[in-house]
Amino acid sequence: MELDPRIARAESLDELRDLETELLGKASDLSRRKASLRDLPPEERREEGKRINEERSALEAALAARKSALESAARSSRLDAERLDLTEVIGAPERGHLNLVTQTRDRLEDVFCAMGFVVAEGPEVETDWHNFTALNLPPAHPARSTQDSLYVEWGEPESTLLRTQTSPVQVRLMQSQDPPIYAVMPGRVYRRDTPDARHLPSFSQIEGLVVDRGITFAHLAGTLEAFTNEYFGSGVHSRLRPYFFPFTEPSAEFDITCVICEGSGCRTCSSTGWIELGGCGMVHPKVFELCGVDPEEWTGFAFGFGIDRLAQMRHRIADMRILGDNDIRLIRQF
Ligand code: DAH
Repeated sequence: MELDPRIARAESLDELRDLETELLGKASDLSRRKASLRDLPPEERREEGKRINEERSALEAALAARKSALESAARSSRLDAERLDLTEVIGAPERGHLNLVTQTRDRLEDVFCAMGFVVAEGPEVETDWHNFTALNLPPAHPARSTQDSLYVEWGEPESTLLRTQTSPVQVRLMQSQDPPIYAVMPGRVYRRDTPDARHLPSFSQIEGLVVDRGITFAHLAGTLEAFTNEYFGSGVHSRLRPYFFPFTEPSAEFDITCVICEGSGCRTCSSTGWIELGGCGMVHPKVFELCGVDPEEWTGFAFGFGIDRLAQMRHRIADMRILGDNDIRLIRQF
């Protein structure tokens, strides 16, 4: 039995449907032969009837096979058209990373946590009382003017400001929990400063506070030396110079070995071999009293320094202002 060769060659479902009508429909040769069966003598009628059925089944099978082949070709060309090209995304992943100041802050937290400190935070919009008064800087104290403040319009005039230092977080900690306290407090601070190579109007500081029984100046010096060795490496040391801060007594500024010349003297350290990092001292009894801690029972030390300044020194960045510029050429280096 010869099958119609047009079935295998049909290019579309429409073409196939037309062929089906032509080959199996009412006007088809098969239908016509079926209709004239009754005119045949009984013997031939059986033979012819059988042949017609076989031909019909063969045609139906061939049409169904071609139909499914055409349908699957249509499906795969539709999937091809809808496929998303993800090679660009998978091939070259562009990942962002943390700003250098944030990386520095994270690393500082790690070093202090390993030394047994916890991390605490406080608000950036602060009351004048927490930022100054409770730190033994009463209204009109001359040292207030060393930190040019940005006041916000809230409550009484000059009662609320963007904190000029992280030291008010010390106050909040002492008010909210009983000693012993071993905490570091990183965060952003604000001052009415004109930006230059070593100053930004908004920068980050990290504050440290220890309050316990029997804490001495030796603990302060030892803690700062241990931190300096751990953070910068064992060749970098710390030293303390007498200074004045209203919230500590005695107070000191602390220097570290110049990381540029490693202590031999260069332009950055004005040939001294040391660079100033921050301030520190023994918590003033007046501050303890204002924060509700008994100075007869407890002693403690505090320190504070700039995180941006630290990053600047560690990575030898000439101008601090680029730390906040979002210049991809700087960001990509760290
Ligand atoms: N808050 C001081 C500043 O911003 C730094 C400082 C000095 C913090 C001495 C302290 C400290 O905790 O004891 O200049």
